[in-house]
Amino acid sequence: MSRHFISVEALKRQFPGTEKAVFEDLWFSVEKGEFVCIIGHSGCGKTTVLNILAGLDRPSEGAIIFDGKAVEGPSLDRAVVFQGHALMPWMSVLDNVLFAVQSRWPSWSRAEATEHARKYIAMVGLAGAEKKRPAQLSGGMKQRVGIARALSIEPKTLLMDEPFSALDALTRGTLQDEVLRLRAATSLTVFMITHDVDEAILLADRIVLMTNGPGARIAEILVNTLPKERTRETLHQQADYYPIRNHLLDFLVRRSKDFAPPPGWDARRPPHVYAGPEKTGPAPAAVIGAATTPAPRSRPFAAAAS
Ligand SMILES: Nc1ncnc2c1ncn2[C@@H]1O[C@H](COP(=O)(O)OP(=O)(O)O)[C@@H](O)[C@H]1O
Ligand SMILES: [Mg+2]
Repeated sequence: MSRHFISVEALKRQFPGTEKAVFEDLWFSVEKGEFVCIIGHSGCGKTTVLNILAGLDRPSEGAIIFDGKAVEGPSLDRAVVFQGHALMPWMSVLDNVLFAVQSRWPSWSRAEATEHARKYIAMVGLAGAEKKRPAQLSGGMKQRVGIARALSIEPKTLLMDEPFSALDALTRGTLQDEVLRLRAATSLTVFMITHDVDEAILLADRIVLMTNGPGARIAEILVNTLPKERTRETLHQQADYYPIRNHLLDFLVRRSKDFAPPPGWDARRPPHVYAGPEKTGPAPAAVIGAATTPAPRSRPFAAAAS
């Protein structure tokens, strides 16, 4: 049985009729209560990883172990917030959320389920909009409904695929704050795809860096050393903010393209790296607790290799 809450093991996905795998030999894990972001260029296979984790797609090789069991199909324990909001357009906000609540707790009375759904609609700031249909909502509001629907089934994990990428910067910022607040209130485990570097720094405990495909790999995992109590307003004042940001940008701009595994690199155990001058930092408790041998702690490859 896996020791991690989510364990991605030797994952490979090759679509029929294609010559090369989108990704192969992916290994990483997520601990209970962690917020993990994965970043990588468009097309490297992030959505495919998330779909496999959601149980909506199957790997060609390898497996994902979730809470001790291999993922074999969708489960209400793993709620997904899609890139597009994926609401049912003919249903009101309330009915969209209610539909999820009723599939989770079919024995509940309509009144009970409605009260529960309303609680989550209010939690995402949409009280009063229950009767509106998706077409009457702004992009940000639709995405809020998607989040309310996902949270309403009280999943063990929230899986989010670039949930805010279609929104304007202001709305995106507001929703990021909401996610921070909701997470503090629920201590949910979250796995989120983003290609917004600042979003990853604001939200994530660890950031998984995926190389370009085909044959994409996990190059390394960046530990976010910023204090947990972060706000968008003060983020850039933190000493580690720019080193972390530069490290991520350097990866996306330069190293993700022609990733050449450095000596000692092991796909089964992508190194945990710390940005910042000479920083080796404390390994997060989750990493220490989970690894059989101490988690590799190194400076970024660029520095470590020289
Ligand atoms: N059902 C599919 N059939 C064939 N190719 C697919 C399918 N789904 C995704 N792909 C291909 O797999 C690659 C990775 O896609 P995706 O996981 O969506 O990447 P990302 O989310 O990182 O942008 C892309 O080249 C895409 O065209
Ligand atoms: Mg995608």
